[in-house]
Amino acid sequence: MAMWRKRWKRSGACVLLLMLTGCVATGALPADPEQEGLDERIVIRFSHVVAEHTPKGQAARRFAELVHRYTGGRVEVRVFPNAQLYSDDDEMEAVRRGDVELIAPATAKIVHEFPEWQVFDLPYAFPNEEAVARAMDGPIGQRLLAGLTRDNLVGLAIWDNGFKQMTSSVRPLRRPEDFRGLVFRTMGSPVLDEQFRLLGAHPVHVPFDRLYAALERGAVDGQENTLSNIYTRRLYEVQRYLTISNHGYLGYVVIANRDFWESLPPDIRRQVQRALDETTAWIRQYARAANVEALELLKRTGRMEIHVQTPEERQAWRAAFGDLDKWMEQQIGSDLMRELRALTAAELPNR
Ligand code: LMR
Repeated sequence: MAMWRKRWKRSGACVLLLMLTGCVATGALPADPEQEGLDERIVIRFSHVVAEHTPKGQAARRFAELVHRYTGGRVEVRVFPNAQLYSDDDEMEAVRRGDVELIAPATAKIVHEFPEWQVFDLPYAFPNEEAVARAMDGPIGQRLLAGLTRDNLVGLAIWDNGFKQMTSSVRPLRRPEDFRGLVFRTMGSPVLDEQFRLLGAHPVHVPFDRLYAALERGAVDGQENTLSNIYTRRLYEVQRYLTISNHGYLGYVVIANRDFWESLPPDIRRQVQRALDETTAWIRQYARAANVEALELLKRTGRMEIHVQTPEERQAWRAAFGDLDKWMEQQIGSDLMRELRALTAAELPNR
């Protein structure tokens, strides 16, 4: 009986081997595994709104490569940059419907549905990148991602871009008074709108793919963004003044269609998550370097007057933001605010 079982096992293994390797018995060449089962290849459509040469654009490509490698080509990630498929205002519904499988909007863009994510928008909440990393990787990030898992969405990762800077076409932005009466584009988060109102400016929401045009025709006087976005979107052509203020943070949340995500075979899902985790670590380093490089490139254009905020100016901006923390607490709840304060309490601001 044991012998029989052994033989059966051996012949079963042979059949399996034959199935896997193709027609060994007939001497035909085994098929290229990349070409085999093309119909069964799983496609992840990944839509985003920025250029390919931004941190998010590069991260999306890298993620696609890693997924290809770790799944042996069984999963293909097709990246659609530059709002080719969906703009800021409709990518969330697109992923929920399953018209794309993955998006990575700025955290500021999901806050109408998920107000807690405004925690990343609060000005001067994070003294440096390390504090942001602690928020993303620790209980704050876990709580935010868990909160996203509903209505056919699942939050998978938080990606970095970097600190935001202020730009304007009208005048240098040094003191809070310099903002008075100007129209500023925001990403639509209520706390960002409030931030500009407290500075005496008028906030308006403009999707990223329409930002350049809005600035060019003067519908909007200024905006806030990371240096890599300012450079790659060529905002220096339509904005004369740049203040390095590091006042707020721009991060992304990677969101998948939940039905799709849960339908993936567990081994495949593990490999896709592995690729995502590696990309998350990678973009953190890449984004920092990209912003440093973008500043040099912006200087080289010679088209912007660049001012680095002084500690006194920072104090004056902070004073203008006054009770924004209290306002924020009403929006996101005291638990999260407490976590945020605990996270940065021990820090001496180095920005
Ligand atoms: C913006 O709208 O300014 C940014 O969120 C664009 C992006 O996705 O980096």
